Amino acid sequence: MKKNNLVERFNENDLILGNNLDQWQEYCTNPADWKASEEATFFAQLVNLFAEDPLLPIDQLKTFPSSVILSYLTKMHRYYLNKRLPEIEQQLVQLSSTPGELPETLASVFSWLQKNMEKHFRIEEQSLFPYIKELEKVRNGKENFSSLRMKYKDFSVQRFIESHHDEVENKLSEIKKYIVRSLSSMDQLFPYRILLLRLDELEKNLRLHAQIEDEVLVPMALIWEKELEG
Ligand SMILES: [Fe+2]
Ligand SMILES: [Fe+2]
Repeated sequence: MKKNNLVERFNENDLILGNNLDQWQEYCTNPADWKASEEATFFAQLVNLFAEDPLLPIDQLKTFPSSVILSYLTKMHRYYLNKRLPEIEQQLVQLSSTPGELPETLASVFSWLQKNMEKHFRIEEQSLFPYIKELEKVRNGKENFSSLRMKYKDFSVQRFIESHHDEVENKLSEIKKYIVRSLSSMDQLFPYRILLLRLDELEKNLRLHAQIEDEVLVPMALIWEKELEG
């Protein structure tokens, strides 16, 4: 896949580069000429990943400050909730007049998705992300570890891992299969093609998002925590 096509599909850069798609594309074809911000560089790593390498460059991503990773992840939360979900909802509205019970079932699955994503992101933004920010302050000597422990008495990265699970991606995969199974002919399936595409994109985006959290951010925080606990 060519990088520019990929970038066009990757509307996320609206959030990071302030809608400046031209500048972003220029960066992708001519990186040396563009002074990228750290956040844009982080995003560039992800674009490269999609374009060339099926494996997440975990070690490279770990070299970015946690503030960059946290800012990226938080922006993506807003993007999924405020852009991707409304797009899917819009498709469901358009499909609501198609015959059969499928549109109604999908509407209730959508409301499950919306609630679960909101809850999942909220928990991360209210507990894990601020905790990691403070953990980094402790590492830099700007804060005391014992006061952090006092503030987050019942919280640790390990506990977070044990209680926090990603269910949405699998649900999205199930929904796609369910739609295809429920519609027996190509004619019936045709009106659902954009919805299927949107669900597929969201699933891929969320899988990558979870990978950045689970394989880059969380292990990094776990190491810091262990070091500080000594
Ligand atoms: Fe997240
Ligand atoms: Fe997550």
